[in-house]
Amino acid sequence: MKQITIAIDGHSSCGKSTMAKDLAKEIGYIYIDTGAMYRSVTLFALQNGLITDAGIDEEALRQRMAEIVITFSLNEKKGRPDTYLNGVCIENEIRTMEVSKYVSPIATLSFVREALVDMQRLMGAAKGVIMDGRDIGTVVFPDAELKIFVTASTDVRAQRRYDELTAKGEICSLDEIRANIIERDRIDSTRAISPLRKAEDAIVLDNSNMTIAEQKVWLLEQYHRATAE
Ligand code: DC
Repeated sequence: MKQITIAIDGHSSCGKSTMAKDLAKEIGYIYIDTGAMYRSVTLFALQNGLITDAGIDEEALRQRMAEIVITFSLNEKKGRPDTYLNGVCIENEIRTMEVSKYVSPIATLSFVREALVDMQRLMGAAKGVIMDGRDIGTVVFPDAELKIFVTASTDVRAQRRYDELTAKGEICSLDEIRANIIERDRIDSTRAISPLRKAEDAIVLDNSNMTIAEQKVWLLEQYHRATAE
């Protein structure tokens, strides 16, 4: 079977990564969560005092970008990759509300985007990859053979994120999560560089009323169709 590149873009918290991870496991592709890469840079900035009440110290972050090494390693127990920052597993730390609060402003910085897009192109150069994010089908891999644009209603997305965080034991409020999702959508869609938008040749999936199992079947069908062409 020919190896292709699969780009999955869309709004935050609409289940892109769950779909992408499941498909990668099923078809033996490498899965890359590019949101986790922007979250890793945000965590690095927080850990090193580069984000304070005064805002982001952009110049200091620019100078320290070369120190940031992001890798993924399969977690055998979960059957999914964990994210590592300079050799330390940070899979849980990057999913907190604190990181979610600052990640969109970090993702608007051109030097951050350039560095991460370069890494993503290298990671996907050999094909056989599923990458999820905001600009994969438009900027990172505009020639991807299969492009999906995922969306769902704000309320559904907020509830899913709330369930995910409370299941991990994090104390959070549904209103705070909804506000964070709306704000991230606004920043992601209106930023000057690589704003979130549907690639012209992407297939739209609104999964507001779909179960994870239904999405899995739908995505597998799209993959079979794309590889048969
Ligand atoms: O998918 P996520 O919620 O983990 O993404 C975190 C943030 O990173 C999101 O607010 C937008 C940004 N992002 C981006 O700008 N480009 C990507 N390819 C992936 C994520």
